[in-house]
Amino acid sequence: MNLASLVAAVILIAQPASTMKAIRIHKFGGADQLTYEDAPKPEASVGQVLVKVHAAGVNPVDYKIRNGMFGAGKFPMTLGFDVSGTVEEVGQDASRFKAGDSVYSYLPLTAGGGYAEYVAVPASAVAIKPNSLDHAAAAAVPLAALTAWQALFDKAGLKEGQSVLIHGAAGGVGHFAVQFAKAKGAKVLATASADHHEFLKTLGTDVIIDYKTQKFEEFAKDVDVVLDTVGGETQARSIGVIKKDGFLVSIVGQPNPAKLKEAGIRGTGFLVQPNADQLKEIAALIDGGKVKPHVTKVFPLAEAAQAHAKIEEGHTQGKIVLEVIPGSASAPAVKK
Ligand SMILES: NC(=O)c1ccc[n+]([C@@H]2O[C@H](COP(=O)([O-])OP(=O)(O)OC[C@H]3O[C@@H](n4cnc5c(N)ncnc54)[C@H](OP(=O)(O)O)[C@@H]3O)[C@@H](O)[C@H]2O)c1
Repeated sequence: MNLASLVAAVILIAQPASTMKAIRIHKFGGADQLTYEDAPKPEASVGQVLVKVHAAGVNPVDYKIRNGMFGAGKFPMTLGFDVSGTVEEVGQDASRFKAGDSVYSYLPLTAGGGYAEYVAVPASAVAIKPNSLDHAAAAAVPLAALTAWQALFDKAGLKEGQSVLIHGAAGGVGHFAVQFAKAKGAKVLATASADHHEFLKTLGTDVIIDYKTQKFEEFAKDVDVVLDTVGGETQARSIGVIKKDGFLVSIVGQPNPAKLKEAGIRGTGFLVQPNADQLKEIAALIDGGKVKPHVTKVFPLAEAAQAHAKIEEGHTQGKIVLEVIPGSASAPAVKK
């Protein structure tokens, strides 16, 4: 081997494995911990697809994990559980997808990795994205919409003709819950601050309650279901507005079983689970014009810290999204 080829070989060996840009944290803390940097590009292993991320949704759980609220973590950690993008590579046993498919996904909470140019996702958590949405709008859907869906239908069993009180109705989960409940033919009562009332009217909400100036108990009586996205005193007071054998479903804390029993109602807290079949049903509702994600703000991936500061205020209308590929917020939906 001559000197030139030796140098070339050394350079090749010294080169890092393929990299990508990602937002990572190296320890728990404030939004200033979110670092835009190079990270190893993942590969699709068995049962996975590698998604080229066009946009990533931002959820309250992202800043809760960043803060260390859920304890132990492995660093560096890439946050982000909602993505919309295109399939780059298909792993073994993931052949229901092909390279180039336009997909969206809620990534398992144990994995994450959405705030990045590429993420490897179990195919069982991936669905073809709604055709009528650009990637930014599609990235706003999975976690929040699945939460609303599983809360209303899998847990509370909401049916046509029933009534549901939705707390935090203008937020990420709430605005999907309002639309799913209306699409089901239920009567929707909703709490939100006055800033969101016009928005909630556009979603077809039947009764809008300003939780800052009004007591929801005066408007909601004997409802079939309450969806609690707020917790604490709001959850405790909700027990009194539910009819006998009605259902209190909470996404922010387990209701007190003794209080439920005393009131003669049922209830549970729960954690949203990835579900590709439900994402498919949700995509059909969106493409059918029955449901629409509301994206209130799009930040470039590198500005994830600003996105976190915004969602941490706790008064988001609809969803906040990170654009990983510039233009994802206005690009026409990619045809299947
Ligand atoms: N268990 C699960 O699987 C699961 C899944 C998703 C989310 N979550 C949790 O559920 C919560 C909501 O999530 P999200 O994504 O919908 O959050 P979000 O997008 O931040 O929305 C929260 C909404 O609640 C409203 N709000 C705040 N205080 C309120 C009150 N006292 N009464 C009524 N509305 C109030 C806020 O606006 P205004 O105050 O301006 O009206 C805002 O629109 C978060 O804590 C999140 O971590 C849990």
